[in-house]
Amino acid sequence: MFPDSNSRSAQLNERASLVLAGGSSRSTIRTKPYTLYLKEAVGAEVVDVDGNRIVDFINNYTSLIHGHAYPPIVEAVKKQLVDGSAFSFCHESEIQLAELLCDRVDAFERIRFMNSGTEAVMNAIKAARAFTGRAKIAKCDGIYHGSYDYAEVSLSSGPDDWSAEDPVAKAYSRGTPQGALDDVVVIPFNEPQHAQRILERHADELSCIMIDTSPMRMGSNLVRQEYLATLSDVAQKHGILLVFDEVISFRLGYAGSQGLLGVSPDITALGKIMGGGFPVGAVAGRADVMSVFDADSDGVAPLPHGGTFNANPITMVAGLAAMTDMPRAAFDDLNALGERTREVLTEVFVDLGIAGQVTGEGSLFRIHLHDRPIVTIQDTAPGSGELTATVELRSQLIDDGFFLGAGLMGCLSTVSTPDHVERLAGALRSRLPDVVRAL
Ligand SMILES: Cc1ncc(COP(=O)(O)O)c(C=O)c1O
Repeated sequence: MFPDSNSRSAQLNERASLVLAGGSSRSTIRTKPYTLYLKEAVGAEVVDVDGNRIVDFINNYTSLIHGHAYPPIVEAVKKQLVDGSAFSFCHESEIQLAELLCDRVDAFERIRFMNSGTEAVMNAIKAARAFTGRAKIAKCDGIYHGSYDYAEVSLSSGPDDWSAEDPVAKAYSRGTPQGALDDVVVIPFNEPQHAQRILERHADELSCIMIDTSPMRMGSNLVRQEYLATLSDVAQKHGILLVFDEVISFRLGYAGSQGLLGVSPDITALGKIMGGGFPVGAVAGRADVMSVFDADSDGVAPLPHGGTFNANPITMVAGLAAMTDMPRAAFDDLNALGERTREVLTEVFVDLGIAGQVTGEGSLFRIHLHDRPIVTIQDTAPGSGELTATVELRSQLIDDGFFLGAGLMGCLSTVSTPDHVERLAGALRSRLPDVVRAL
C-alpha cells in the first residue's frame, strides 16, 4: 500500500508539483517519497484516494479533539453555513465561545480570536510589546511556535550550535531580518539557572518570556516545574509578561496545561482544538494586558488588530460544539487512554528488549528509538541512524494502516479506542526488530 509509485496519490504529487510551490501548501505534512491524498476522513480513520483505510494518530496535528467529521460539529457548521459563513458584522457565537473559555481558565479574563496558532503567537508577542513598551522577547532554544519571524528564531538549532556558552539567535528561514534576531533572547529549555542568568542580563528590555509547556520536540513531556517557577519569578521581578503557547497543550486538560501546572501566565496563545477543526487562533489573558486591543474614542488602539476571517461564525460554532463536548470527564477519559497508549507501546520495547521509549502527557505521545532521558534540548540530538530508522518506521506503519506525525508523534481523540491502540502496538511489535537492526 505505501509507498506505491503507481498509486493515485503518487500521481497527484506529480501533478501538484507543476502548480504548487514545493508541491503543496504545508511543508510540515510531507511524507517521503510522496504525500497521501485523502478521499475522506471520518471518526478515527481516513481513506486515501487509492481506497486505503488508515487509523489517524495525528488528527490534523492535534487539532481534532473529536476526530474527523464529528457529528455535533458537522451539524453546527451545516446550520451556520446556510445562515452565513463570514460577514463584517459580529455574531453571538463569538461571545459564547469566549464565555466558555473564560469560564474554564482563571487566567483568561479577556480573549480575542484570529485564524491560526501562528497569528495567536504573533499577537501575544505584539500585545506584550504594546503593554510593556519593550521590544525584545525571550523564547526557548529549538522550540516551535509557528511561523512568525520572531517566534521562529533558533527553531532549527542543533548540535553545531550548542558549543556556544549561551544559545544563539539563529535564523530559521533565509532572509530573516537581523533586527528580528537582535530582538530575540534565546534561553535553554528546562535549565533554570542558565536561563535565569541570560534573562537577568536582558531583563529591562524584555516584553515577554514565551514558553510551550510541553513541546513536541521534547517528546510532549511537561516542562519541569522548577524551570517554569524560575521563569515566572524572573518575569514578575522585572515586569516581564509570561506568555504560554498553548496552541497544542490546551488539549492536556480542562484548563489546558496551565490548569495542570498551577502557573497562570499573563497571556496565552491558543489554536487547534478550540476551533473544532476549522482555522483558529486566540489570545487570552489578563484584562489590563488585553486592554491594548481596546480602541479609544477616536477608534485607535495601542494594538490595532483586524482580520477578515477573525471570529468567523463557522469556526466559532464549530469550536463551541467541540469544547462543549469536552467537560472535565471527557478530558479524564481521553487522558486515561493516552496513559494506556504510552504503557502499551512501551511494553513492546520492553518485551522485545529494544532500546526505546514512549513519552508524552495527556492525549499526546511520541515513540523514540532511543532510551536517553529527554530533558534538555541537547537530549534531542539524534544518535547515528536514528533519524533514518524513525522515518522508515513511520513509513512502514503507514503501510500497515497507521498514520503518526513526523518523528513518530501521535495524538488521540475522543473517538480513539483501546482497539486502535492495541492494533498500533501490534504493528510496532512486528516492524521494530527489522527497523532497529539497521541502526
Ligand atoms: C506550539 C505551537 N505553536 C504555534 C503553532 C502554529 O499554529 P498554526 O499551525 O495554527 O499556525 C503550532 C502548530 O503546530 C504549534 O505546535
